[in-house]
Amino acid sequence: MQVRSAVIPAAGMGTRFLPVTKAVPKELLPIGDQPALQLVIDEALGAGIDHIVLVSSRDKPAIESYFAPSPELVESLEAKGKSDVAERLRAIGRDWRVSIVYQDSPRGLGHAVGCARDAVGDHPFAVLLPDEIMGDSSLLAQMNGVCLSTGGSVVGLKQVPRNEVSAYGVIDPGGPVDDDGVVPVQGLVEKPPAGEAPSDLIIIGRYVLTADVFDEIAALKPGAGGELQLTDALLAQALRSPFHGVLSRIARHDTGTPFGFLAAAIEIGLDDPEMGPDLRAFLATLT
Ligand code: G1P
Repeated sequence: MQVRSAVIPAAGMGTRFLPVTKAVPKELLPIGDQPALQLVIDEALGAGIDHIVLVSSRDKPAIESYFAPSPELVESLEAKGKSDVAERLRAIGRDWRVSIVYQDSPRGLGHAVGCARDAVGDHPFAVLLPDEIMGDSSLLAQMNGVCLSTGGSVVGLKQVPRNEVSAYGVIDPGGPVDDDGVVPVQGLVEKPPAGEAPSDLIIIGRYVLTADVFDEIAALKPGAGGELQLTDALLAQALRSPFHGVLSRIARHDTGTPFGFLAAAIEIGLDDPEMGPDLRAFLATLT
């Protein structure tokens, strides 16, 4: 069975980006010439996914506008000879499908993922947190493979200094990390104090989950920060089923703060074949 659906939780109000986010959803802010959200969607598509489930808020109608077909605009661009841009517009949602579901109140990541239940159905699915932008699709593709071969859920991981773990979900490894970066997981805890953390391996915003997680989400009680935590639902899975982590070896840009967003835009811009050389030359003039 293939992993076909990717859930992208995007209902947050983007408080750190106010006042911009009064008018524009953070997910649509540009990195180079693409909305950050499109880069996350492209990562999912590159891992073989063809159904994007966006968990949005009714207060963010611009997200829907982004996915709405725009035949008149496409036609007028074609008429002006701007066929590359026209083609980019046409490609949005052409070879893949988007479902938009709503999270009406901010009750935590577990709750947000739970809102996608009907759209996902009874198959393993990916979750991509759009505050993180990855260098390519290879981590997600590997995680899909591990989920299919083990029959259990999989989280993306990164090793960080101990004093940073309390901002994240942390795993309790059930054995060594193998040559492919895969590690069995026997426990998970959300935002533990550094001294109580079971390891220095944090969960980054990539997950491939078996559909039984929706029952665990439905049974959740408020956890860390009073929110319905996805990590707590994953712990319930790990206690009864195979559960693995995959250590990421690819670039990861955290766009959750204005500084992180700017730094990500620069790093991603430097890698862009068209903009990279000019950007590099420009940055060199500043130092
Ligand atoms: C969420 C998850 C956490 C994970 C993190 C990755 O936390 O709850 O387990 O480590 O994303 O970015 P948040 O950043 O929403 O507080």
